[in-house]
Amino acid sequence: MKLNREELKGLMKTKFVRAGLKDEHADTMAEVLTWSDERGIHSHGAVRVEYYTERIAKGGMTADPKMTFEQTGPCSGLFDGDNGCGYVVASEGMKEAIRMAKENGIAVVGMKNMSHSGSLGYYVEMAAKEDLVSISMCQSDPMVIPFGGAEPYYGTNPIAFGAPTADERRVIFDMATTVQAWGKVLYARSRKAPIPDTWAVDEDGNPTTDSMKVNALVPIAGAKGYGLMMLVDVLSGVMTGVPFGKHVSSMYDDLSKGRELGQLHIVIDPSRFVPMEQFKANMSQVLNELSESKPAKGYDKVYYPGERGLLRKANYEENGGIEIVDDIYQYLISDDLHYDRYDHKNRFAE
Ligand code: NAI
Repeated sequence: MKLNREELKGLMKTKFVRAGLKDEHADTMAEVLTWSDERGIHSHGAVRVEYYTERIAKGGMTADPKMTFEQTGPCSGLFDGDNGCGYVVASEGMKEAIRMAKENGIAVVGMKNMSHSGSLGYYVEMAAKEDLVSISMCQSDPMVIPFGGAEPYYGTNPIAFGAPTADERRVIFDMATTVQAWGKVLYARSRKAPIPDTWAVDEDGNPTTDSMKVNALVPIAGAKGYGLMMLVDVLSGVMTGVPFGKHVSSMYDDLSKGRELGQLHIVIDPSRFVPMEQFKANMSQVLNELSESKPAKGYDKVYYPGERGLLRKANYEENGGIEIVDDIYQYLISDDLHYDRYDHKNRFAE
């Protein structure tokens, strides 16, 4: 089923309002999920709505949170989300970071006691639209081995980077620190297909091509990705005072409890280092040069981070809307809020 962005956003927002979120929180959440779907990041779009409505219904996402922000210094602050909607916490945290970075050149905003905040690219794009450079990172539930280990310790701990240019383009680099997302393993399972031996390990920590035997994912680039996911957990978890490492709550463990996740935004005003016009012109030059550089055999061109998502968005707009799989569409148009199927789900079993 193809839906235009307003139809899709409207259906998602209606579910969240009916689940008990206040209008502006439901709107923010539906907006970020639509942002993901229209860029082809369907793992972080409408597919998640039913899980969230179940979590809200069971009390594990505070429907009417008492969120607080404390500015702890000229360039630092801490947001407490009261385990409310993570999308709102991350958006509001970014608004505070943008304000402080404009005033003082740099801002570091920690966020604690939040729930899942989806695609981090959305938040770094907020800063890029304001001519600011930013990095955002957050914790995720433990399902990744540390390099050389056999049992999960870290989450897929994503990190994103955004920067403006002199034209309408923006660099939006946004990745999990694992070789492959868990959703790709589930997709292989559904087709009873093997997976490459570089994606995941079995219960002994050995690489496996059998998607049914996967017991953990692996970090990107071996020990280097492991160090990067540690950095994400230290800055967004240990430093914000929430559970860290293997103590981070699982998405599906107990939907009646708040997830107590952490996130961190770092926002920098480039004009404190070089004239803004120079920075933006040079960023445009970087993207032009990359785009004009010779592609390798089998590649049509060199893309800048975020470019392919924008091409998917343009494609949806030209071809009648965002493609939503039928099961999800049927759920979105139904009167049902959830089917009680996520609570205490074994994340490796399905
Ligand atoms: P991915 O592997 O699809 O893309 C990673 C980055 O590489 C993107 O910036 C993309 O623009 C760039 N890229 C991909 N192919 C490219 C190409 N051919 N040329 C140039 N650049 C290219 O992303 P991944 O790791 O699967 O993450 C997907 C989403 O999941 C992200 O939005 C991430 O924030 C989100 N996520 C959120 C989590 C959470 O707990 N909130 C946990 C894990 C991921």
